[in-house]
Amino acid sequence: MSIDGAPDTEQLVACSAAHAALLAQMHAACFAVPWSAPGFEGLLSSGGASALILTADGDAEEPCGFILWRTAADETEIVTLGVVPEYRGRGLGAALTNAVLERARAARATAMYLEVAENNGHARRLYEELGFKQAGRRRDYYKSNGGSADAIIYRRSIE
Ligand SMILES: CC(C)(COP(=O)(O)OP(=O)(O)OC[C@H]1O[C@@H](n2cnc3c(N)ncnc32)[C@H](O)[C@@H]1OP(=O)(O)O)[C@@H](O)C(=O)NCCC(=O)NCCS
Repeated sequence: MSIDGAPDTEQLVACSAAHAALLAQMHAACFAVPWSAPGFEGLLSSGGASALILTADGDAEEPCGFILWRTAADETEIVTLGVVPEYRGRGLGAALTNAVLERARAARATAMYLEVAENNGHARRLYEELGFKQAGRRRDYYKSNGGSADAIIYRRSIE
């Protein structure tokens, strides 16, 4: 399956709890505070969350990125998104976000939202280019090594 904005050779794999270890491995490559495999397994087996892995060869042997989201009532929240460093800057983050936008629309969600650290310029640019607007702020939400950063809440209506 090819997706908007991604090279033809990349593919999306719908995740089950069996992908938890791979998701944790990719998350650790993307974030300073990694989430555990049991954490991903819990999110995916609770029935509330869904995830996609973007692979270079379609069978998850060369994973490039991932996205995990949940839909409650008519709102879809992007819970986490990452593209492994060697694949960044090629539009894959945008492709993963757009893939969830399509699924949210199909699930009749009317809005999507997410939280991102104020100092995460790449991610904020990505979301703003995809039409997300700032909708709020949580002071000192992200804490690490004695420092902290506000979380910016972004929201986008789904037409
Ligand atoms: C944020 C992230 C998912 C973006 O993924 P991506 O595939 O690089 O995204 P895109 O290619 O669609 O580009 C998004 C923007 O970041 C830029 N960018 C991201 N990483 C880059 C890199 N390593 N080198 C150059 N530019 C980069 C892109 O050029 C683009 O900016 P621009 O439109 O102003 O040129 C990725 O950088 C990442 O995984 N970061 C760590 C985890 C994270 O912060 N997740 C989001 C938390 S909410």
